[in-house]
Amino acid sequence: MKDLIDVDPSLTGRITCGTLRAGDVGREVTINGWVHRRRDLGGLIFIDLRDRFGLTQVVFNPQVAPDVHEAASDLRNEYVLRVRGIVRARPEGTVNTKLATGEVEVEVHGLDVLNESKTPPFDINQDVDVDEALRLKHRYLDLRRPKMARNIILRHQMVHAMREYLIARGFVEVETPTLIKSTPEGARDFLVPSSANPGNFYALPQSPQQLKQLLMISGFDRYFQVARCYRDEAQRADRQPEFTQLDIEMTFVEQEDLMGLIEQLYIELTETFSAKRIQQKPFPRITYAESMRRFGNDRPDMRFGVELQDVSAAFAGTQFNAFAQTLASGGQIKAIVVPGCAEYTRREIDELTEMAKRSGAKGLATFAVKADETRSPIAKFLTPEEMAAITAGIGAVPGDLVLAVADAPNVVAKTLSALRDEIGRRLSLADPNVFAFCWVYEFPLLEYNEDEGRWEATHNPFSGFLAEDAHLIATDPSKVRAKQYDLVGNGFELGGGSVRNHRRSDQEAMFALMGYPKEDLEARFGALLEALDYGAPPHGGIAMGVDRFAMLLAEADNIREVIAFPKNQRGHDVMFGAPDQVVTQQLDDLGLVLDQKKAVDLW
Ligand code: AMO
Ligand code: AMP
Repeated sequence: MKDLIDVDPSLTGRITCGTLRAGDVGREVTINGWVHRRRDLGGLIFIDLRDRFGLTQVVFNPQVAPDVHEAASDLRNEYVLRVRGIVRARPEGTVNTKLATGEVEVEVHGLDVLNESKTPPFDINQDVDVDEALRLKHRYLDLRRPKMARNIILRHQMVHAMREYLIARGFVEVETPTLIKSTPEGARDFLVPSSANPGNFYALPQSPQQLKQLLMISGFDRYFQVARCYRDEAQRADRQPEFTQLDIEMTFVEQEDLMGLIEQLYIELTETFSAKRIQQKPFPRITYAESMRRFGNDRPDMRFGVELQDVSAAFAGTQFNAFAQTLASGGQIKAIVVPGCAEYTRREIDELTEMAKRSGAKGLATFAVKADETRSPIAKFLTPEEMAAITAGIGAVPGDLVLAVADAPNVVAKTLSALRDEIGRRLSLADPNVFAFCWVYEFPLLEYNEDEGRWEATHNPFSGFLAEDAHLIATDPSKVRAKQYDLVGNGFELGGGSVRNHRRSDQEAMFALMGYPKEDLEARFGALLEALDYGAPPHGGIAMGVDRFAMLLAEADNIREVIAFPKNQRGHDVMFGAPDQVVTQQLDDLGLVLDQKKAVDLW
């Protein structure tokens, strides 16, 4: 694992709070920093001076410099100091092996107080839990905390390594505009009005998707960008309204080339920046269909088992109404084995049942497998063979609890996947020392939007499809598989991409399926469609979530911990107070009139 705070003093020309070692004893030095901690031992005053490079102990001795010692008694935490002194070896028994500078201290003979500080609203010198709202309001102080500084530096080093890796392989970094045309890509656009053109709006890009494809048509061959993306969507622990992608596009490639490129990069990043072991190399690859079948979702956490098992066949002739009806209407019955939880209390079972219902399930059938019997609320409706099929038949042993859901396949998947994740958390089933990556591929190209009565791209409308599925476009669009692949790590979608349509006819066929009227198509995607007419090469790409992987490397539990100035969970910047109302003049300039009934006063 790489040292995160490595800096070469011969290049920076400055001695930092992380520089001094035993070899420096006897040197006269000047160092700057913040008062991290102060100990007044009557005679001697010790201060840990801090900057982002580390901590150095400085000592004020009344015998050495009485005036300076006197001045040091007024110093408080977070004051900014410049001290001059001599590097001394620490006396026997006072060496601090936890600090890189722990063998030495600086005996101070000169002190400048460069600035004072009010008492900070939370402790900077302690790694304790602080209310996040307070941290975000004073983010500049929060970032002084060594743990946060480390996260931000780790992110910097990770992005640097990404750049190095790609540049070494002939990629060119190209910046693309962030004031573009609104072309909905799944989430809602953030719009930017223009005073020069009242009534007209730019949109902030949800990703540089079309621009990077155009760069391929321009002949750039291998493009990347550390790109800011904007999506006006509901926030979650792993989502921000603005986030960063490592965005990539390549010419003359197939799925295999993109997967190979990214896999090697993620192996190198993990091995450089994490002490965790990669569970399996090469990364396992599973189709979307297999992922849904085994895990109930398309971002499986492969660190533990508890896979979904289909027991429908065993209930073909069942007398139990709920199960019989489900099967008759094309549904299925699936179950997971929860190890060692046969003794779950009524309350615990009720909690899981509530979770199941929140996922849309009509009920949750439970089976507590004991040495002499299996207890289940529905035992009296099932035959001994059926009971055996849903317990021992799927590997449950005495002491286990089986959770089963009968419903439409999408409800079963959603419910059991949520329960599997919950069980994994509760029982700490995931080995905390591993990174489990996997590729999920062969996603369905389209899904039917019932409300709008048309087909929609599951990922983006530019993804190509498997040649052998072309005939299904006319007959059964839901079965067409896209050349789309996602990288998943420890249950998070770390990135995704596809091989694109490079022939106008294929792209138009997609748009036709998605039910865009011809005029609309021209207005929204005209530039790209036209470009496809001018010798567009085969191309494909991928975009990796930078924040999400930095979060995993930093072992943080949400992406705000690896973003210097994030929005809170409501998408607000609580430090500056944004979004905010603007003065009437600004609206007038833009030709905008507010609907006061909808306006909210946030601050
Ligand atoms: P996609 O929409 O899958 O693909 O995004 C790629 C990756 O970006 C990350 N991500 C996010 N991270 C934080 N906050 C968000 N709100 C957020 N949304 C997405 C995820 C995701 O896997 N243009 C296509 C890529 C392509 O086909 O090349 C795209 O944007 O890690
Ligand atoms: P009910 O007949 O609705 O009172 O349900 C009796 C038992 O069957 C309860 O334990 C329910 O949770 C369970 N159950 C009912 N419907 C389903 C279903 N669709 N899937 C799994 N279990 C169910």
